[in-house]
Amino acid sequence: MTPSNERADLVFEPSGRQVRVPVGVTLFDAASWNGIAIDSTCGGHGTCKKCKVRVLEGDAPVTSLDTRAFHTEDLREGWRLACRVEARGDLRVDVPPLTTRPKAATVGVGRKVILRPAVQKRFVELSEPTLKDQRADLERLLDAMDDLELRTDLFALRAIGPALRAADYKVTAVVVDDVLVAVEPGDTSERLFGIAYDLGTTTVVATILDLATGTPLAVQSMLNRQQQSGADVISRISTIMLDPTALGRLTTHAHETLDELTAAVCEEAGVEPREVYEIAVAGNATMTHIALGIDPEPLGVAPFVLTTRAFPELLASDLGVKVHPRARAVVFPAFGAYVGGDITAGLLAAGMDRDQRTRLFIDIGTNCEIVLSSDAGLLVTAAPAGPAFEGASIRCGMRAAKGAIEAVKMTPEDLALQVIGEAEPKGLCGSGLVDAVAELVSLGFIEASGRFVTEEAARDLAPELAYRLTTVGEERVFVLHWLREPGDVERSIYLSQRDVRELQFAKAAIATGWTLLLEDAGVAVEDVKQVLLAGSFGSYLSPASAVRLGLVPELPVLRVVSAGNVAGEGAKMALLSVRERAGAVALLEEVNYVELSDRPDFNDRFVDRLSFPV
Ligand code: FES
Repeated sequence: MTPSNERADLVFEPSGRQVRVPVGVTLFDAASWNGIAIDSTCGGHGTCKKCKVRVLEGDAPVTSLDTRAFHTEDLREGWRLACRVEARGDLRVDVPPLTTRPKAATVGVGRKVILRPAVQKRFVELSEPTLKDQRADLERLLDAMDDLELRTDLFALRAIGPALRAADYKVTAVVVDDVLVAVEPGDTSERLFGIAYDLGTTTVVATILDLATGTPLAVQSMLNRQQQSGADVISRISTIMLDPTALGRLTTHAHETLDELTAAVCEEAGVEPREVYEIAVAGNATMTHIALGIDPEPLGVAPFVLTTRAFPELLASDLGVKVHPRARAVVFPAFGAYVGGDITAGLLAAGMDRDQRTRLFIDIGTNCEIVLSSDAGLLVTAAPAGPAFEGASIRCGMRAAKGAIEAVKMTPEDLALQVIGEAEPKGLCGSGLVDAVAELVSLGFIEASGRFVTEEAARDLAPELAYRLTTVGEERVFVLHWLREPGDVERSIYLSQRDVRELQFAKAAIATGWTLLLEDAGVAVEDVKQVLLAGSFGSYLSPASAVRLGLVPELPVLRVVSAGNVAGEGAKMALLSVRERAGAVALLEEVNYVELSDRPDFNDRFVDRLSFPV
């Protein structure tokens, strides 16, 4: 995934749509990226000859495939196959109406992705050698696929002879991009799979995809085995800094996690691991560094430098994943030490660079990443929200697991809890914390300053709930659930005054982040058309509570949307479409990073944002 800076301006007729693309991108890709459909049944691989367009202005040399698809007169008039024309300069192109429906899958935040995986299979029936035809095995095979310009992998060379002779010269060639990586006996062209991973600090999720149809076949998740070396990225970096053997151990734990998930999704989907030819991994910078055995120490100390933003060509085996021996691994590039490949993947899945609307993308966690897309381009920043949302610094806090209160609803007469696994409540996770505080602010039990009101005031506001407002030691608390009989406060699940303060600091850090981005871009709050809440925590957060607390801008709640696991969706898109994959690399060049820590206005904004909206 190597970024390119040169651009070409393209105009697609009859719509007149203008697009700017990196030089070298094909017309077919450029059109697809921009939602302009061009006829195709092969997804741009150069086999269907349906992607006919007419180049009206600009230079588009005739390719060998064009000469087979068009008459000389057509070529003279500018007709070309769009998937073979690489934009080397500005072009104006006429796109005829569709005659076939493009093969597409809906992925990410409503993104329609036209299928064009890097992996393709081609079944060929070859003539057997004779004394008159002594072409080498490889030559014989490549002659049957002469529309592709292929390089050959040693693995394929070893496989080709046995495959040809075992299957009467009927074989399937496996091609990844322009490399022949394997030759399989018989027709296996329908068996084509990839696995997308969301490599989280806490949880890792794997999805196996049928690359021919875009269909997800199985999804599995498990806790990252690195958990035993620290709950967050900073503690894992510290472990590595203090112990010279720790990097190897943590890398092994990452590999074991990825490979265990691989075996699980393959089994559930009924797929042999050797039928998986490509994987894609989206993770934060620390997780991807460690998984690749790269020392993450510079990420943890100022000035917070990555070893690399984009990774070279990798194999799945570099990440300990046992699939096809030549399966490639796509690892998402990072913007910076604290805005990693998971955010790049999330932005791709959300289409942040494509949508004309002004949008905010907020990935909430211990470290919160915020991205603003507007006429000023894409601005990104990272805000240190602290561990409140993980439940770590909260008196009765816990991770979002069985027994965690994940949602709270209150009226002046009643209180209702939603508990993960419908179990006896054991604690309060991040979304429950946000809900509880938002409901108590709405009820008037918590003032705009964040302070609990007096018990007397609570009796006036909601007499039925007032008995829950009490104290533990000197500290005022609100009891959400009595584990024993009412009155046994110490052994209840409660929200303390200090918990409210923790949440205030976390939300102020996030709100300061988006406030400064909006100011830098010259965008008014009311002009934000959509706020996407992403990340494992953000996706479960109630949009209404987020607005109520000022965690997100004060907007109509319908404009605030939970985006789900966008990092995993971005990884899927990278597997399904080389165009989207290139889009992730292009994002690196489009995004401008805004550093908050040295801003003179940070403290003033932070203090402004501590209180709750009234
Ligand atoms: Fe099939 Fe170009 S898209 S030949």
